[in-house]
Amino acid sequence: MKFQIITSLTALYLTVLTVAQFTSPQYLKSPIGGRLTTDDKWSKAYDRARSVVSQMTIPEKVNLTTGSGWEADLCVGNTGSVPRFNIPSLCMQDGPLGVRFTDFISAFPAGITAGASFNKELIAFRGKALALEHKAKGVHVVLGPAVGPLGRNALGGRTWEGFGADPYLQGVAARATTREIQKAGLVATIKHFIGNEQEHFRQVGEYYGSGPISQSLSSNIDDRTMHEIYMWPFADVVNEGVGSVMCSYNTINNTYACENSYLINKLLKEELGFQGFVMSDWWAMKTGIFSAQAGLDMAMPGDSGYFTSPDTFWGNRLTRAVLDGSLGDWRLDDMAVRILAAYYYVGLDSINTTQSGPNFSSWTKDTWGFEHPLGNVGWREVNKHVVASNNDLSKSAALQVATEGIVLLKNSGNVLPLVGGSLNPRKINIFGKAAGPDPRGANCKPDFACSDGALGQGWGSGAVDFQHFVTPFEAVNDAARKIGMTVDYDFTAFNLDGFLSKVSIADANIIFALTNAGEGFASFDSNYGDRRNASLWHNADEVILRAAEKNKNNIVVISSVGPTNLERWIDHPNIKAVLFALPGGQDAGIAVANVLFGLSNPSGKLPFTIARDDKDYIPIVTSPGNGKPQADFTEGIYVDYRLFDKNGLTPRYEFGYGLSYSSFGLSDFKIESGTAPSEQLPQPPSLKPVSALACNKPTNADAYTFPPGFAAVPRYIYPWLSNSGDVGNVKGSCINVTDAISSAPLAGGGLGGNPALFETAYTLSVTAVNNGPFPGSQAFQLYVEYPQGGKYDVPPRQLRGFEKPYLNVGQSAKLTFKVQRRDLSVWDVESQSWVVPRGKYRFLVGNSSRDLPLSAEITI
Ligand code: BGC
Repeated sequence: MKFQIITSLTALYLTVLTVAQFTSPQYLKSPIGGRLTTDDKWSKAYDRARSVVSQMTIPEKVNLTTGSGWEADLCVGNTGSVPRFNIPSLCMQDGPLGVRFTDFISAFPAGITAGASFNKELIAFRGKALALEHKAKGVHVVLGPAVGPLGRNALGGRTWEGFGADPYLQGVAARATTREIQKAGLVATIKHFIGNEQEHFRQVGEYYGSGPISQSLSSNIDDRTMHEIYMWPFADVVNEGVGSVMCSYNTINNTYACENSYLINKLLKEELGFQGFVMSDWWAMKTGIFSAQAGLDMAMPGDSGYFTSPDTFWGNRLTRAVLDGSLGDWRLDDMAVRILAAYYYVGLDSINTTQSGPNFSSWTKDTWGFEHPLGNVGWREVNKHVVASNNDLSKSAALQVATEGIVLLKNSGNVLPLVGGSLNPRKINIFGKAAGPDPRGANCKPDFACSDGALGQGWGSGAVDFQHFVTPFEAVNDAARKIGMTVDYDFTAFNLDGFLSKVSIADANIIFALTNAGEGFASFDSNYGDRRNASLWHNADEVILRAAEKNKNNIVVISSVGPTNLERWIDHPNIKAVLFALPGGQDAGIAVANVLFGLSNPSGKLPFTIARDDKDYIPIVTSPGNGKPQADFTEGIYVDYRLFDKNGLTPRYEFGYGLSYSSFGLSDFKIESGTAPSEQLPQPPSLKPVSALACNKPTNADAYTFPPGFAAVPRYIYPWLSNSGDVGNVKGSCINVTDAISSAPLAGGGLGGNPALFETAYTLSVTAVNNGPFPGSQAFQLYVEYPQGGKYDVPPRQLRGFEKPYLNVGQSAKLTFKVQRRDLSVWDVESQSWVVPRGKYRFLVGNSSRDLPLSAEITI
């Protein structure tokens, strides 16, 4: 059987469903929250939430669950408020690298750049700065971090929003970011759940160069792959206590993510023990009652399709569904309780005493505007222009992450750094369109889908307005001027006459090149979100080759959202050095200049594989098929380096690769302590009994119409019925939970799964030394090779730890890695649980996924 679909049913059922090809079974058991016995903080939050929700009316509960509509309020998403209990309209705002649609904020380096730093403390530092800026702007729920896409497709449009093409790296980074956002008292949203690996066909109605389609792309993912690859980082973040999960646009095994009961009810809420609320991606919800039953808790932005319809799937319709008994009242209670539990869990109630909501408007840059722009109601000062970014934390996080996200790929004869390296040039040229400013400015429309100048971020909802943007030209020119170096430049891409006249005059040419990508609602040069190919833009290969013909010393700096093809020139002897800079945010240019000139020793590592042949990447599905495009994840768990390693493909640069101006050594690798975990998981902790709230049986629909004299904002989504006659028969909504599980599945019972999964099994250590000649950091990586040749097909190696010490020349440090049970486990489809296979495990430590000089073994 090639594809085991997501199911926990019997082998027979599996076979039957497989014939039907890629369907997702329904799972309608009640995923009622607050039943974990393992987490006091959530339990307390649930107690508070239950006590408030038990006093609420149906419309009040509905108001928590449904957005007011696109552009109906000031943030990209806004819930209704419940004034009786002092609960404000919640402001949901992107996103993963800064506060979207406002001013005086930082454009931090992208998630992928933070991932490339392989620096846990720095990733947390970025998370903290990001969180405090959102807080200063009055945001309640941050729409980030992103771990889906995970990076299956090298050319995927939004992979740069997440942290890299490995579940472990994504999990560690997203966990640190979530922790900081929630420590600041805001709810973090981990997104997009799940399988949103490409932009093509993510939504019906968006144009991708071909089509049309009648159903969003189906990511067809088997059960083991779902667990070991795509769900893995979500499990980490649930374990951290994340308050919100955003379901994605795509379908999974042909059921829309936001109404996929197997995914939400079973995998996320039951197995991972997720305690917060599931929010739809913007208009990713396609049905009302069906989504509610599948476990969706919050409809965003609330309307059912602004561009096509001012209606809603929830709002008054949810009220009606509960009144007429089509939806059990317990489900509405559970939605409201989950939302408020997350609210209390992070402490939003205390923030609310000092801060009543957004002090900016997403919809105008003017100081004055409408509070409800869609309805043209409430003219007031909407943009207070609060300065969130002018502080040391933000500034140093922005620059440091950009710097540590730069990967040195090549440095023949140590030509770099420009000062203190072997070349020490006195005259340089700066070439390439990617060096200078975009003629349309730093903030081009729509949503930054441009690229006629240096790259700081990708495009789409994950991008923010630059308050300043330092191009590489500006920073390199400045650094050169300070030391009396001569600089000339030429940014032309196609008419190369001017460039050719300069190319041999300088001691070295620094040539900048880029590729860009973004969210599927915008495109650039026929790149519909996803990139069309891995080639450099703006004729850069040609510029590089022509420079290499005439000058012995050329340094290439690539800025890119993902892997690029380097093959036309990477082996050229005159291409002496190559830097690969991930999207560096506002100070991208300074970071590059600091590395070039040796003020910073490069320490980034590739968070993905760069292939020699583009055919080695998993392709984007660009054919609409019969209108229901299908992406079969046939490679299973073999994503990125796992695929290259398994198939014996030689990459150009492997996952985890990155040089330094120094050389580092490792010694004395050993297993310090630990005991072999049992093959099967121990029984999960018990669950608390279901505690459904008491129901006040409604009898009269009149009580649910608009309050008398209420001044409704036009086109605003409200929880009240326009007409009590809409509800045919008020049967009463007191439908009890009839079908809840009595005990957790073996893999469940705690936050993120069975708590035993997160226990340390082994502690390993190694000594690292900086052999000089420069001080600097190095990200040492730990990989695990599972027992080979057994029941489970396993990748040759998988990342399971990284540590990045800063070492002066000659300094050494002992590094410690803690390996958890789950780091040694495989997902066993038959038993629907994690198993630690018996046999020989090899731990490997080193500088990249293919440079692993030391190993230690253990037999379990
Ligand atoms: C994106 C989400 C984003 C939301 C709100 C959607 O188009 O997919 O990531 O949070 O918009 O801006």
